[in-house]
Amino acid sequence: MRRPLSLTLRLTLFFGIAAAIVFSGFGWIIERSIEEHFQAEDTAELKIITQAVQQALSTLRATDEIAPLERRFDDILAGHHGASLYIAAHDGQTIYASSGPDLSTIASTAIAGNAGGSTREWRDGDSHYRVLIQRMDEDAAAHSPPYTVAVAVAIEHHLHFLDEFRRTLWLMIASGVAVISLMGWIAVRQGHAPLRRIVAKIRQTSANELNARLSPETVPRELTDLAVSFNEMLDRMEEAFVRLSNFSADIAHELRTPVTNLMTQTQVSLSQPRSLDEYREILYSSIEEYERIAQMIGDMLFLAKADNGLSKTSITEVDLAGEVQALFDYYEAWAEECGVSLALEGAATVAGDRLMLRRALSNLLSNAIRHTPPGQFVQVRFDSSDKEAIIISVENPGATISTEHIPRLFDRFYRVDPSRQRSGDGAGLGLAIVKSIIDAHGGMIEVTSAEGHTRFRITLPRLQ
Ligand SMILES: Nc1ncnc2c1ncn2[C@@H]1O[C@H](COP(=O)(O)OP(=O)(O)OP(=O)(O)O)[C@@H](O)[C@H]1O
Ligand SMILES: [Mg+2]
Repeated sequence: MRRPLSLTLRLTLFFGIAAAIVFSGFGWIIERSIEEHFQAEDTAELKIITQAVQQALSTLRATDEIAPLERRFDDILAGHHGASLYIAAHDGQTIYASSGPDLSTIASTAIAGNAGGSTREWRDGDSHYRVLIQRMDEDAAAHSPPYTVAVAVAIEHHLHFLDEFRRTLWLMIASGVAVISLMGWIAVRQGHAPLRRIVAKIRQTSANELNARLSPETVPRELTDLAVSFNEMLDRMEEAFVRLSNFSADIAHELRTPVTNLMTQTQVSLSQPRSLDEYREILYSSIEEYERIAQMIGDMLFLAKADNGLSKTSITEVDLAGEVQALFDYYEAWAEECGVSLALEGAATVAGDRLMLRRALSNLLSNAIRHTPPGQFVQVRFDSSDKEAIIISVENPGATISTEHIPRLFDRFYRVDPSRQRSGDGAGLGLAIVKSIIDAHGGMIEVTSAEGHTRFRITLPRLQ
């Protein structure tokens, strides 16, 4: 794809073109109105002369009696700058022609073309004139014969003025366009300054300096959204970064304990010769640590997989009640041993990854069983009354989780009791896995714990 024009060039061009259009429009209007004004002035002058001439002619009885009127014509013309007069009889014969340009040809073309009454521009060599040709019909009452009267006034000075004016006007327009374009260019450059500052700030931001933030109040309003989004992106990145660094630290920490145990145990056992039975004993006790390590590695692999989201091929219709029933069978012996009973209410099917959903339910269930006091029961409930989503809740009685732990419960390696006193307590990845799985399915999970009752509530959308 071609790179779009630079914003500065685009806006400068836009300003330039807009200014050119507006100024040219105004220029054209001004020019036209001056031209029209001159034309009206000339026409009015021509009409005055023509009327005076007509009046004089109306007293004429025959064309050959023109001599006495000539003085009058001279007087009429004398009052007007650069005016000339030509009078022809109806047969084209010249009756009177004042000094100045020869109007006979134009008058005769007008006679032939039957034109009359309107003015027109006329060029005679280098000189320009405005001419009015008027046909006067025979006036029977006054016994005057028909004539053609042509009156011309020089318009050289008007045209000259117009030329000068036009030149100045277009020069002004051109410089106006140039100035406006330049101003547009400066304004755009200036306007982009905050953007350049933001870019500089972004450039400074590195992985070690994720705490840098833009202050949205100090950027122009149009860029507030950009600054806010940028800050939010940094928040998310910082959070993910912190979580990632903590995660590595936690992994190292969690693996160190069993590995140290194994090492110490091995060193102690090797410190002196032992019987075969003793060695067997030692190997057996090592198995527990190995299992713990294997479990943690398995959990972490699972988390990584769930974090990558669902693969399309693994999505099927999952009968959740069926899965819970299978898990009840699996945990039956352990639950019985703890004196805990298991109850299921409702049914639901959802589109998702069967193994993952099973893992999530299994983690919740094992937690619930572990925390339920003997003689009480764990309740799994499905609510599929909503069209869009189904709700799964896993509830158990037992010690209330205090509120300071609630927001961190789904964090990786987070345990309410970090000393791991309770037998069977794991690494604290169980709920993190549940959350990853539910997130991958586009759902959400929340937990409430009050008055000796803990409830995990999952909302899953029906369609993926
Ligand atoms: N149903 C529950 N009732 C009371 N506390 C719970 C319940 N479920 C979880 N918790 C608390 O939340 C903490 C985190 O649970 P999570 O399942 O993540 O870790 P875990 O069970 O200790 O280890 P893992 O599941 O990795 O074996 C646990 O330490 C436990 O104290
Ligand atoms: Mg657990």
